[in-house]
Amino acid sequence: MRIGVFDSGYGGLTILEQFRALLPQYDYVYLGDNARTPYGTRSFEVVYQYTLQCVKKLFEMDCALVILACNTASAKALRTIQQKDLPLIDPNRRVLGVIRPTVEAIGNLTQSRHVGLLGTEGTIQSGSYPMEIQKIYPDITVTGQACPMWVPLIENNEYHSEGADYFVKKYIDQLLENDPQIDTLVLACTHYPLLLDKIKMHAPKHMHIVSQGPIIAQSLADYLQRHAEIETKLDKNGQCIFYTTESVEKFKQSASTFLHESIQAHHLSW
Ligand code: DGL
Repeated sequence: MRIGVFDSGYGGLTILEQFRALLPQYDYVYLGDNARTPYGTRSFEVVYQYTLQCVKKLFEMDCALVILACNTASAKALRTIQQKDLPLIDPNRRVLGVIRPTVEAIGNLTQSRHVGLLGTEGTIQSGSYPMEIQKIYPDITVTGQACPMWVPLIENNEYHSEGADYFVKKYIDQLLENDPQIDTLVLACTHYPLLLDKIKMHAPKHMHIVSQGPIIAQSLADYLQRHAEIETKLDKNGQCIFYTTESVEKFKQSASTFLHESIQAHHLSW
């Protein structure tokens, strides 16, 4: 069996890349729902339905474990899928998200105890991060900033352009105006590491910038160590297959640029 990695588009590749660096032995299936991206501006019900559909497809492709490598889906769909759907579909499979491991990593970084959260409208509005942060670190003040233009810039391969600079600076400035004491920025969207150079350029130099890839990869490694019932089912051929709900050519081209290697992709039909 394999490990499924799901995102609304290309963002989850920033997580997959780190999985393959830390855990190269496993077989992965990546699914990007590029035809319906972005998820960040969609309602709770729509994100849940789309995510569930994609998780079921990954189960059909023999995934024992699916990682929602998407904060929006983790915020809006994970809990319902885990509690309501999974027991009916197959209680032996697992679906994990990216929010909890990210939150756990924040506590040791911030000195000022003021954290800024950059995410999609959906992730920010869901309140999932402040809720999780409050549970573990009640002394941390969280301020959220929705960055609705960042995912479209990345999905349309415009993240190196001057237009991207404008929108990166705009959202960081807005966030820091709302709370100047912030010393830690959480990139709470898996697309955002692709804008990391620009984010570093426009953020104050002392700022800690939290990118999720290495955190989620370490958390998966720990999970597999604790869950032999899943780990022993996983094939270990070091292979990775890519699926997209959009044009295969477009996905191959963009994903190859993001991953710095040429890949083969398949179209997912429902
Ligand atoms: N990569 C996704 C996330 O982490 C979201 C992007 C979208 O808006 O579709 O939230």
